[in-house]
Amino acid sequence: MKKLTSALLASAVFCTPLMADPVEDTLILNEEITMVTRTAAPAHVSDVLDEVISGWHFRGTETRAMQADDFDNPGMIFVEQAEEVWNTADGSEGKSCSSCHEGTDSMKGVRAVYPKWNEAAGEVRTLEMQVNDCRENRMGAEKWKYTGGDMTNMVALISSVSRGMPVDVAITGPAQSMWEQGKELYYTRTGQLELACASCHEDNYGNMIRADHLSQGQINGFPTYRLKNTKLNSVHARFKGCVRDTRAETFKPGSPEFVALELYVASRGNGLSVEGPSIRN
Ligand code: HEC
Ligand code: HEC
Repeated sequence: MKKLTSALLASAVFCTPLMADPVEDTLILNEEITMVTRTAAPAHVSDVLDEVISGWHFRGTETRAMQADDFDNPGMIFVEQAEEVWNTADGSEGKSCSSCHEGTDSMKGVRAVYPKWNEAAGEVRTLEMQVNDCRENRMGAEKWKYTGGDMTNMVALISSVSRGMPVDVAITGPAQSMWEQGKELYYTRTGQLELACASCHEDNYGNMIRADHLSQGQINGFPTYRLKNTKLNSVHARFKGCVRDTRAETFKPGSPEFVALELYVASRGNGLSVEGPSIRN
């Protein structure tokens, strides 16, 4: 009975638009960097997807255009704010990020490989976890709120210097068990609607759900500037919103479950260009 209800709900929720496909277009950043926004699926998802596609292809013409030029991309205002913070001393050690890391160019390539196993700590770390570790243990500063503005802006700054580089998250070795946990979460149906991430982002991408053109739910564009709330949004804040939409209890941002899910979802986008900060609805 429960199954039937959810099947009925699901068929009422999704509908196929006349133009279901992702838009044919090419993203060239600042007339300089040609971004990889669709490419052959990495081996570990090739059983379920032929191609991995950036969320950029599922957005409207104007939204796509805004992301092509840093002057039009409102997300870059937050990147500039983070640049100031990068150079500002904070905490008991009187240090700024630049005291140890020098220019932000030192972060080139970092976004592409996170979440990443940290050997010394014996854990998989997201960028947010690493930034807070530096703040707490190297600067003697207060941790930032996981999905707060300071943190998300800093993550956007770190992402921005890797734009155009391919996402290349490692899923074997010590990160493997966490990756498997993330995969399980991705396919677990939850909530009153009994929907998994895969129900929407694997089985129904291209279709419309209410007014939204469903994408593959890739995270290569994070943090995303959303027109809906006019600020940068972090990966875990987006996960939280999507889980809530299935009317399920959600995990906390920064929780081991969401870290595992981030690792898994990031790996589904291996090969796509880092786009953050991107523009989405
Ligand atoms: C006192 C020196 C120091 C300061 C200040 C510092 N860091 Fe770090 N940071 C390090 C060291 C050392 C590592 C490598 C540590 C490790 O691998 O565990 C690191 C690693 C990182 C990494 C991961 C790089 C990679 O290749 O995986 C990021 C991202 C980072 N720091 C961001 C920041 C930010 C943002 C700030 C300012 C809010 C900051 N750090 C302040 C010393 C510092
Ligand atoms: C009921 C359908 C539904 C479910 C279930 C769902 N999402 Fe979403 N998700 C959406 C919609 C609608 C959007 C906005 C349009 C889009 O980008 O697909 C979205 C957007 C996203 C985005 C942003 C993509 C981008 O390019 O900015 C990510 C990431 C995401 N979802 C991840 C997840 C994860 C992880 C799960 C499982 C915990 C999940 N979603 C479950 C409907 C869903």
